[in-house]
Amino acid sequence: MQVGVVRESAPGERRVAVAPDTVGRLEKLGFTVAVERGAGVLAGFDDAAYEQAGARVVSREEAWGSDVVLKIDPPRVNGEVDEVGLLKPGALFVSLLDPARNGALLDRLAAAGVTAIALDRIPRITRAQKMDVLSSMANIAGYRAVIEAAHAYGSFFTPQMTAAGKSPPARVLVIGAGVAGLAAIGAARSLGAEVRAFDVRAACREQVESMGARFLEVDLETDDSGETEGGYAKEMTPEFIAAEMALFAAQAAEVDIIITTALIPGKPAPRLITEEMVASMKPGSVIVDLAAATGGNCAGTVPGEITRVGGVTIIGLTDLPSRMARVASRFFGSNLAHLLDELGGTARLEGDEGPVDLEDEVFHQSTVVLQGAVRWPIEPFPKKPAPATPPAAAQAAPGPAATPAPAPTSS
Ligand code: NAI
Repeated sequence: MQVGVVRESAPGERRVAVAPDTVGRLEKLGFTVAVERGAGVLAGFDDAAYEQAGARVVSREEAWGSDVVLKIDPPRVNGEVDEVGLLKPGALFVSLLDPARNGALLDRLAAAGVTAIALDRIPRITRAQKMDVLSSMANIAGYRAVIEAAHAYGSFFTPQMTAAGKSPPARVLVIGAGVAGLAAIGAARSLGAEVRAFDVRAACREQVESMGARFLEVDLETDDSGETEGGYAKEMTPEFIAAEMALFAAQAAEVDIIITTALIPGKPAPRLITEEMVASMKPGSVIVDLAAATGGNCAGTVPGEITRVGGVTIIGLTDLPSRMARVASRFFGSNLAHLLDELGGTARLEGDEGPVDLEDEVFHQSTVVLQGAVRWPIEPFPKKPAPATPPAAAQAAPGPAATPAPAPTSS
């Protein structure tokens, strides 16, 4: 059974879905690996590196015609290009697909008779961390955001005291302490900056502080944890957002660099930095808006661009992982190898139970096309009630299948 690694075709994309160091892992799962000629060149992996790792280097048609096709960005289907048309019926196709915004693409994949897994729908549960490309790429993006900021900032991050003069530490504010935010805190701290951070989720405080940054607080009494039951950020009240923005207004005049990563799953990015806040920043300051692609956390961000507003540089780059294409490709490929392992490898794909186990939360949530039929929107994964009575006892004494849990007692 052949896995095909195809060349990315989106403008500016330098990554490849599988780096040579993952080829052996795919072979251990029972696959042979076919890599499209030149697929890894922009990430720093030439064809010879794949051949040395045990892969075959093949034509575009042969790679796309594999049993399993691995890719990063969604396949391109427009007037002249139809990558989906290169897939063979019955194949398993795996890439980012952004299904909520790509209904026509899902229809096209269904018409091609394939099964498609959307990597951007893999749930952020502990078990799925090893397959979660959004997290592995956000980690890289957070780190790279600091490198881009340091490049645009005309001074040191770490304090300097030299014969030629003194320079204070850069002051960095990180908004949103999720995966990218924590990576940004770590990178800015390791360059010697003085870092403070804010997140609506109170649970972030400990992580922020353990990385040597200061956790900021809003001037508002609230018992709200800021989290949904699943641990994600929830949309905050207008009062909370106003209090948070008052905090940022005071911070903007003080800090040299702001890195924004605020995201609420499925919603446009919250606008947290206003034009007035940008105008209040010192000349030479830098803002990196990681949420540029989903509307931006900052007024004046231009997605994909680096712009100047007064004396402030606003970085709205949307391809930060691709700017570290070598390591990003290695991590992406490792996530994919874990996914194919979890799926059951060739044994599952060659068996007659269907290509994916929809009883498994990971595949229930991410399989957007199943054997030629669109599965979108996907119903939430049903939570299984915990068995309260051992099955043997339940059989011996027929009655209610589950004993209700005792009500919590107040003391
Ligand atoms: P995440 O979900 O792990 O973290 C987002 C954090 O924002 C959460 O901790 C959440 O509590 C917090 N948040 C939500 N609303 C907030 C508010 N009003 N104020 C303060 N904090 C708030 O997300 P992750 O994976 O860290 O990604 C962050 C952003 O980076 C996303 O917008 C993602 O699309 C983007 N990204 C950008 C890339 C680029 O090249 N520019 C590459 C990869 C990710």
